Amino acid sequence: MSTATRPLVLLGAGGHARVLAALARAVGHPVLGVCDPTLAADAVSRWEGLDVLGDDGALDRLPPNRAALMLGIGQLATGTLRERLYAAWRARGYDFPALIHPTAWVAPGVVLGDGVQVMAGAVIQPGCEIGANSIVNTRAGVDHDCRIGRDVHVAPGATLCGTVTVEDGAFIGAGATVIQGLRIGARAVVGAGVTLVRDLTPATTVLGAANRLR
Ligand SMILES: CC(C)(COP(=O)(O)OP(=O)(O)OC[C@H]1O[C@@H](n2cnc3c(N)ncnc32)[C@H](O)[C@@H]1OP(=O)(O)O)[C@@H](O)C(=O)NCCC(=O)NCCS
Repeated sequence: MSTATRPLVLLGAGGHARVLAALARAVGHPVLGVCDPTLAADAVSRWEGLDVLGDDGALDRLPPNRAALMLGIGQLATGTLRERLYAAWRARGYDFPALIHPTAWVAPGVVLGDGVQVMAGAVIQPGCEIGANSIVNTRAGVDHDCRIGRDVHVAPGATLCGTVTVEDGAFIGAGATVIQGLRIGARAVVGAGVTLVRDLTPATTVLGAANRLR
């Protein structure tokens, strides 16, 4: 996990970016400003208390030795834009420090990859590993010994019980519950509110309750 030693630049100005701007303020980490093509085209100079630096071209003036990045693009079921941007800016040498809201709990020894974003009220218990560019969103819970790949989004209020494996690019919808020991395949989607009780093969989507009476 890299920690933020350089000032940050926020990429994007949607809802996810707004949450990150608040996180950076709560942590007290310096933010040079925000890059966003729409704000730049509209000649907006300030957004969420931050200077608007321009579109992504503004980073030409801020090379990787002067700024690190935080990726304000969220990820719904298929988050390929977020993945692409992360990979492209990493290839240009920029760091994406892991960011942890001060009200989140990340147990000692948890391994967070670069660019992991842990939002307010999230809990990550001992023995977990979270891969690069993944989001553990507001009030989500990742219990002990989970293995989460890269580019995963655990949406607000979702719960992963212990020893769950989530492969790269998967999405766990808001309020979903995944019982212990399951494996969620790469790019699989667990719909909001689902209670998942069996493994999910890659690139499949599960909707609705999986419970039945017996
Ligand atoms: C799983 C999901 C991505 C599917 O989206 P979609 O492909 O656009 O699906 P649609 O909205 O077209 O719905 C298709 C059908 O599935 C149903 N459905 C959609 N999501 C569902 C869910 N989570 N649980 C149960 N049924 C669901 C719809 O009611 C609809 O049923 P119908 O055909 O009988 O009318 C989406 O519904 C979802 O759960 N998103 C997660 C939202 C979230 O967590 N946001 C957090 C952002 S930070």
